[in-house]
Amino acid sequence: MAFLLVQCHVSSCAFIARHSPLICSSRLQDMRSLFFAARSFSGASSFASRKKGGPLRIHASTIQAGGITISREDVVKEDDPTNNVPDTVFSKLGLHLHRRDDHPLGILKNEIYKYFDEKFSGKYQKFDDLSPIVSVTSNFDDVLVPPDHVSRRYNDTYYINSDTVLRTHTSAHQAEKLREGCTHFLVTGDVYRRDSIDATHYPVFHQMEGFRVFSQAEWEAAGVDGTSFALQDLKETLEGLAKRLFGDVETRWVDTYFPFTNPSLELEIFFQVLGCGVTEPAILENNGRAGTVAWAFGLGLERLAMVLFDIPDIRLFWSSDPRFTSQFKAGQLGIKFKPFSKYPPCYKDISFWINDAFTENNLCEVVRGIAGDLAEEGFNLI
Ligand code: DAH
Repeated sequence: MAFLLVQCHVSSCAFIARHSPLICSSRLQDMRSLFFAARSFSGASSFASRKKGGPLRIHASTIQAGGITISREDVVKEDDPTNNVPDTVFSKLGLHLHRRDDHPLGILKNEIYKYFDEKFSGKYQKFDDLSPIVSVTSNFDDVLVPPDHVSRRYNDTYYINSDTVLRTHTSAHQAEKLREGCTHFLVTGDVYRRDSIDATHYPVFHQMEGFRVFSQAEWEAAGVDGTSFALQDLKETLEGLAKRLFGDVETRWVDTYFPFTNPSLELEIFFQVLGCGVTEPAILENNGRAGTVAWAFGLGLERLAMVLFDIPDIRLFWSSDPRFTSQFKAGQLGIKFKPFSKYPPCYKDISFWINDAFTENNLCEVVRGIAGDLAEEGFNLI
């Protein structure tokens, strides 16, 4: 047994302040029983909290995603130990923030589309309505994520069952699009990771994947090898995009590692990083494109939008408060967010006895099932 001190920090982020202190001692008894009830990794945690009389959050029972109707029962299975999706996450499916033209994420997506359309005369196919529910094979195996990679763990990924997940990245669609014959494409969508919640982290965010395939004739005409040719084109494309979004900004290329690219690089713009590289040949060979070379990138829309629109807290993207939503207009990238809260943050300490089966994310989801997204946590094992 160990002793756990949970320091819940309720942020003062703008739209949040209207909610009262979210975790207080009167809830301690409630939370303790919830925590112990929910210690297995099943998604029962937040659902159990509802059954035990915590404040209910009202969620739609069906959502539209990827052109199909998905019911809550398809995604949240509290009796299935291979499922760890809480209601709070189900409620985000189908909201499609990136498809709203007057939402900062939609405005940014459209601006990136414009860049690709203008620079490459409409050659890039665009997909922004692919279902976020994907197979483990698409999300991990198809992009060569090793079988023992940490990102596959139940602690890190939302599993609907042992074969199906909420996509953790838009790279999950690379193989499927290649098999469909696409050679230039952009895939935008919501992605899901079991993560902490605070001003810069949220378990749901949005990515755009870019992919371009080159034929042998293209690099031979340039007199260089395929990898150098793709790398050069990738750098020019992304540096051009950075310029389009941020003006004459300083950028920096840094070597890194991704399972699906080699070489793998990150582009740093204003301290935000964008992953990319030359696609591993096996991905092309396995999906009908042997003998070609390709590049790919994955770009986190929230991080870029936070810089572009001066948005200080990632949770604001989910706000339906008109004081947030009315600040943005379709097609206008230059607008700067004006904060509207005057309330300070509020700190609460709560202590529990725990045993060895404890995992942080299970507790976090129990807390969020009651408190919503504003509870930030710091853990001290004593
Ligand atoms: N899928 C990566 C992630 O979510 C981002 C990424 C990196 C995508 C490199 C790519 C790439 O296509 O080439 O962290």
